[in-house]
Amino acid sequence: MIEEGRVKFITDGVFYNPRMRFCRDLDMVVFSELDSTEYLDALAASGVRGIRAAVEASKQPVFNDLNPKAVEVIKQNLKLNGLEAEVYCRDASILMRERSFEHVDVDPFGSPSAFIDSACFSARKYMSVTATDTAALCGSATNSGLKKYGAYAVKTDTYHETGLRMLIGFAVREATKYEKALTPLVSWTKEHYYRVHFRVRKSTSQAGKVYEKMGYINFCSKCLRKEISAMGESREKCECGGKFILLGPIWLGELKQKDFVEELYGKTDGKLREFLGKLKEEVEAATTYNLQQIASRVAERVPTTLGVVERLREMGYQASRTHYCGFCIRTDAEIDVLAEIIKDLS
Ligand SMILES: C[S@@+](CC[C@H](N)C(=O)[O-])C[C@H]1O[C@@H](n2cnc3c(N)ncnc32)[C@H](O)[C@@H]1O
Ligand SMILES: [Zn+2]
Repeated sequence: MIEEGRVKFITDGVFYNPRMRFCRDLDMVVFSELDSTEYLDALAASGVRGIRAAVEASKQPVFNDLNPKAVEVIKQNLKLNGLEAEVYCRDASILMRERSFEHVDVDPFGSPSAFIDSACFSARKYMSVTATDTAALCGSATNSGLKKYGAYAVKTDTYHETGLRMLIGFAVREATKYEKALTPLVSWTKEHYYRVHFRVRKSTSQAGKVYEKMGYINFCSKCLRKEISAMGESREKCECGGKFILLGPIWLGELKQKDFVEELYGKTDGKLREFLGKLKEEVEAATTYNLQQIASRVAERVPTTLGVVERLREMGYQASRTHYCGFCIRTDAEIDVLAEIIKDLS
């Protein structure tokens, strides 16, 4: 018998990853903030997430898993926790095509790409997605990224940023064919996974508008410069004379809704609060840099991340640390400005 959050359950050989507990803990705080009841745990395995959603966030879960053994385990786990719910043994894509749900959660092995189309079709208010195929998303497996997410990436000095934005960008694009606009309420990367919770709005005009926040990151591998460009917009060569590599199409909009994350922050303590504090602090610039990598080219030492952030702010730039890397910063300043600060502070 395993205990997690306020529930107890068995796995009986069905998939369960205790390392995802932090993610589920944070999910419960997120779910509690959503004005929805019906929740599809589309790839439920033991059903731990949906059962926690019922007990800890007052949701009415519907469970699904293609594995009949998982369905058996989910039914036992519902009994163990004194709950009743619908449980399906279907291909998640087919179920989501046949029925719409207020909130759809896609938590597969590896890539969610095959499920996102039908999840977008099904979700009326919210959609949550996990991805563990980080290599395909962050640019270290370029061809896999093209095949699964229809976007081009190479590994940069801040590859987790690319991964999260590739995943969001793909989901946002998939939804627009159904005239739905997705907005990330909160998103993060940790250890081996990416997680995004979206608000879904059905609106022809809003669905068109999302492309104002899609575009490309122009990356120069020679000097590590990053510049963003809108859909259809092209860039000349990099100022250093190097060639730009176009990463995308990729999401260039917000990774979170600040007031939503502030609400969550106010309701948590301990490790969750600490993590949400980092998310809350992040500015919204889509350009991120790794101070170690820049310093290795221009200075003898790496200055403190906070020191660089503070200097940038004094100079009037947007700047913050990032939640996923201690040496990475998020800023709208150009790389030449950063290089000068690094030289000065090191
Ligand atoms: C990563 S596990 C889910 C973990 C679970 N959400 C949790 O929090 O513990 C993925 C599950 O998806 C199921 N699965 C794989 N392909 C599926 C499909 N096409 N439709 C429905 N379920 C599927 C697997 O049987 C497995 O139980
Ligand atoms: Zn350059």
